[in-house]
Formats: sequence, structure tokens, C-alpha cells
Amino acid sequence: YLNYRVPRTRKEIFETLVRGLQRLEYRGYDSAGIAVDGPNKTTSDINGNTICLIKKKGKVKALDEELYRKDTLDLDTQLCTHFGLAHTRWATHGEPSALNSHPHRSDKNNEFVVIHNGIITNYKELKEYLITKGYEFESETDTEVIPKLIKYVYDNRENDRITFSTLVERVVQQLEGAFALVFKSRHFPGEAVSTRLVYTQPHIRTQGLNKKNSHNRPDCSNSIQSVEDGSAVEYYFASDASAIIEHTNKVLYLEDDDIAVVRQGKLSIHRLNWQAGEDPVRAIQTLQMELQQIMKGNFDAFMQKEIFEQPESVVNTMRGRICFDNNKVVLGGLKDHLKEIKRCRRLIMIGCGTSFHAAVATRQILEELTELPVMVELASDFLDRSTPVFRDDVCFFISQSGETADTLMALRYCKDHGALTVGITNTVGSSICRETDCGVHINAGPEIGVASTKAYTSQFVALIMFSLMMSEDKLSLQKRRLEIISAFKVLPDLIKKVLSLDEKIKSIANELYQQRSLLVMGRGFNYATCLEGALKIKEITYMHSEGILAGELKHGPLALIDKNMPVIMIIMRDGCYTKCHNALQQVTARSGRPIILCCQDDPEMSKNAYRTIELPQTVDCLQGILSVIPLQLLSFHLAVLRGYDVDCPRNLAKSVTVE
Ligand code: F6R
Repeated sequence: YLNYRVPRTRKEIFETLVRGLQRLEYRGYDSAGIAVDGPNKTTSDINGNTICLIKKKGKVKALDEELYRKDTLDLDTQLCTHFGLAHTRWATHGEPSALNSHPHRSDKNNEFVVIHNGIITNYKELKEYLITKGYEFESETDTEVIPKLIKYVYDNRENDRITFSTLVERVVQQLEGAFALVFKSRHFPGEAVSTRLVYTQPHIRTQGLNKKNSHNRPDCSNSIQSVEDGSAVEYYFASDASAIIEHTNKVLYLEDDDIAVVRQGKLSIHRLNWQAGEDPVRAIQTLQMELQQIMKGNFDAFMQKEIFEQPESVVNTMRGRICFDNNKVVLGGLKDHLKEIKRCRRLIMIGCGTSFHAAVATRQILEELTELPVMVELASDFLDRSTPVFRDDVCFFISQSGETADTLMALRYCKDHGALTVGITNTVGSSICRETDCGVHINAGPEIGVASTKAYTSQFVALIMFSLMMSEDKLSLQKRRLEIISAFKVLPDLIKKVLSLDEKIKSIANELYQQRSLLVMGRGFNYATCLEGALKIKEITYMHSEGILAGELKHGPLALIDKNMPVIMIIMRDGCYTKCHNALQQVTARSGRPIILCCQDDPEMSKNAYRTIELPQTVDCLQGILSVIPLQLLSFHLAVLRGYDVDCPRNLAKSVTVE
């Protein structure tokens, strides 16, 4: 939203919106759309205002090209006040297409247009109702009920003085699900309304619907940022700060039930069903993020940049928290709750995908140093089972984005059961940060590549730091603690050494890239590396890949082994070394020719002339940080060689804000 004394051209407005979309493209990118003020029609029925909608299937680049085709709007038109909307979509309801992409509209005249993050769970009932009232739908999305509904409320208004925000309030009272919404209307030119809600109990229902379980709700977020310098006012509504960081680092986060309105250059926020005098105060926060952090620099892809950032990102996770002089570890966000955590019945680690793997990777050392039972749980499965949770449980929610719907729903479920909740996130101000009782920011810096890399190693570090903090006063564990703390000190250098193997890994990728399958085997502290490596490979190379617990080989997976099946085995010099060698024998006895990730100077490896990737050795519980990096690099090179877009794998989005 802008309100300028010095007008902006439409071209500049397009550029601002498109740049914002490009910065958000990693969250989802099957189609994109934009709504801007169209040319004023002198004879128009609605105050001369028109809204122009431009939508395109594919990446933001396709939309950008569309904007500059000769039949679109005049680019040089100057505008003093303007409110534009833009959205990049990741399909949940309906295939990727221009019609299904946002903004969605109320009718052919674009009287109301809306962009939406989240899900409308009662859209079918609303759609049926609106169809009976003569509204025609053009998309297969859940979102489209929203602009239709606001037009319905507008058309049936009792008086002409109804405000835009009152219309929005009436609409959201009808919606169930989770939504961050921004509205624009021809009837309210130059006015922006946004809202964020997790779940509403509809007050005026069009049809009877069942209330959903309180934990069964996905989420979405939006924040507002403003720039003001006396002569101009700009407001940005965004679901992620990276979209606007080049304009401002001042941000305020909307709470559920907030209705934010920008009118005549002024922002106001009120609560749904507010009473006069009840305006909430939302503190303006200053973000630390720099634009440079979300640029690719000299790398070909964000993922590659993020892999190579790991020597620094793990330092940022440790910074100010580990004191190497006195071997103390203090996680500021947890210290007030430490006593309570120490008294708990068990620790439950909950996450999805890579974040779940970080829990698998650190479970053993958490059990060892906390001397507590530790459960690791996939958020969706945890909810499916309605897992028993007790007041004296401590539940950790591990999430890079802090917005993953399954993890967030599990968090609310655990809160409802009275457990203490702890967030391990990379996104300051995210929903998981805000809703947990306490937590740790992993400080890995913005992660843009859809395939998570540096967030994994930082989550890994953060969870081990937690176990060190928990064991500080246990005499019998001091030797072990010191061994780990010393290993942390040199970890960044060891990561650099692993990264220097990039060329070798690229040549292995050259051998493997035409294969259909790739198995990754290991056990103990390195089992999580197998799961995580296989996930990286499948998500960006589209090869079939499986992480196999080496101890399970003879219970089934061994049947897959022959001379043609590509296999990577992780054999580190830790407590599982002998058992891993047994697994290696089982594989080679079936003519398998595995590539082995092992420690430098392992005599067994050179004796048998295996093909190896040799890694520096560290303490057993940190070895997984080093062993995952070759697999991150391998997946990157395989994807490049197979001709795929590394940062934007098909069918995936960075932030999965729907169930
Ligand atoms: C894989 C990947 C996903 C995420 C998962 C959870 O590379 O990125 O598996 O780890 O969707 O996301 P967060 O950590 O944001 O909760």
C-alpha cells in the first residue's frame, strides 16, 4: 500500500510486487497473480474505479513477462495512492492453473479481490449456498468462496455506510479453517484490509456444520511492515519478512482475530467483534535480517549457498551459548524453565521431514545426557494416534519455518493436554515461536532453498546444546560433556574440510545420476543421516531413495541388493563400527559395490580397496553433522546433472501451512 506525494508509475508498482513475490517464491510456486488499480473509466458505475487482475500458471517469471505484454496496462501511468496485491500459490485445492491462482475475485467486474494463505475447511457448504444465490464459480479452490461471500454480504447490506472492515468481519465470521487474508475492492479504492485467524466459531452460519477439534487446524501468518519518511507512507502486508526486507526492517505481527485496515495512509488494527476503546497495541519489532542474506551471491542455487554456509551457521547457533572457557552451555530461552524440564516424565520431540530427522539424530545423546525417556514423533502421525500426553511431559516442536501446519497442530494438542511446550525454530516471530512456552532460535539465517540443509545441522547443534545444559550438574557425565564441548569448538573447521570434498562428490554424482534408485545405509548415530540423505535425494533429484537402518538389512532390504543397485553405506568409528562392518559384508556378499562414507585413515577401508568418501572424525554424537554434508552435496549435484531446478523441486513448498 502506498500513499505518496511524489507519484509512482504503474511499472514501479509492478516491480515492487513482483520482487516481493520472487523473494517468496520458495514457499510455493505453481502459479502467481497480481491485482492492481486499472485505468479509471469515466463512465463506470462504481466511482470510476477498476481493478485489473493478471494471473499466470508457472513461476513468478511467467507472470512478470505477462505484465509487460503490450496489451496490459499503461506502465507509465502515475499513481499517488495505490494498493496492489500479489500472491504465489502452491496448489492444495485444484490443479495449478491461472484460474486457480490468486487473487480470487467476486465477479467479472472484480468488485472484490482476495489473496489467501491457509485453508477454508467449510468451503463446500459455503459454495453450495452461494451457488443457490446465483453466484458463479470459476476455480476449484477453497479460496474463491471468500470474494463471493464478501460480495454477497455487500449486496445484501442494510445501509450504504457499511465500512470495508465491517464487511470483512462479517465474512470471516462465516469461515472455518485457517487464513491470512488481504482484501482489495473497487468500492473502497485506496483501502486495504487484512486479517489473520486460526479458527472461528461461525456466528451466522449458512448451513449447520460440525465444529472441528481445536487442535485440528492448520495455520498461516501475516505481518505488516511500514516505511514512513514524512513525504510518503508505504505499508506491506506479507506472510514472510523476506518479501519486504529491502523496504523496511520494522514489522508488527498480527494476532489471530486482528483486523488491520490501511485507509488514507493510516494503519489501524482492531479485534474481530471489537468494542469502542478496545484497540489492541501491537509492538513494532525490528528484524535483524539483511537483504544480502536472501540473495544467492556467487552460488548457482540457494541450496548450494546454504550448504556452504554451514561452517558459519553452526557458529551462529552456538554463539553466546557455549562458553569454551568454563564449559557452560546456556540457552537463554530455556533457562527459566530448566527446573521444570528436569523434573519431567519424558521428552517428546515432534517435527516433520528434515526437522523430524534432527530429532532422530540427537535422540541417543539426549537420552544419555538427560537420563530421561525421549520419544521422537512425526507430527502428523502423533496427531493421528491421539498420542497420550501428560502435564509433566515436555514437548519440543522442531521447525525451520515455525509455520508447518502439522507441527503447529501437534503443539496446540500438547498445550491442550497441559504439557510444557518448547520451540526449536529458525524464524523469529513465527507461529510456533509465539505459541510455545519457551524455546531456542537456531539462528541459521534465512533458508530459501526448499530442501533444508543448514537448518538441519543447526537444529542438530541446538538439541545437543540442550542436552549439555541439562547435564551440567551431573558429575558422572562431565567427561562426556567435555568431550562434546571440545568437539563443538573445532566443528566449523571440520565442516570446511568436508565441504572441500565437493569435487570428489561431483564426480561420484556423475557416475550415479542416470540411476533410478539409491539406497543409503547406516545405524546408531548415523541412521538419521541415512534418512535425511535419502530425503534430500528424492526431493530434488526425483530418484527413488531409501534410508535403511543397517540393523534391519536382513529383515528385508537385503533382497534389493545385487551388483546393479547403487548403495551408500555410512561406517564411522563409533560404537556401531563392528556391526556396520557386518552389514558391509552382507552387502558385498550379494555382489553389492557400495560407496562408503567413513572416517579418514580407516585401515579396514584401505585394506579392502573400497570406494570411499573419507571424513574427518569427531565425537560420535556430532559425526552425523559431518556425514550428512556429502549427501547434501551429492543430492545437489545429482539434481543439476539430471537437469532439475534445485531450489524449486516439483510439488513441494518451503513452508507447508496446510495439513
Ligand atoms: C526437506 C524439508 C521438509 C521440511 C518439513 C518441515 O528438505 O525441507 O521435509 O523439513 O516440511 O518443515 P519445517 O522445518 O519448516 O517445519
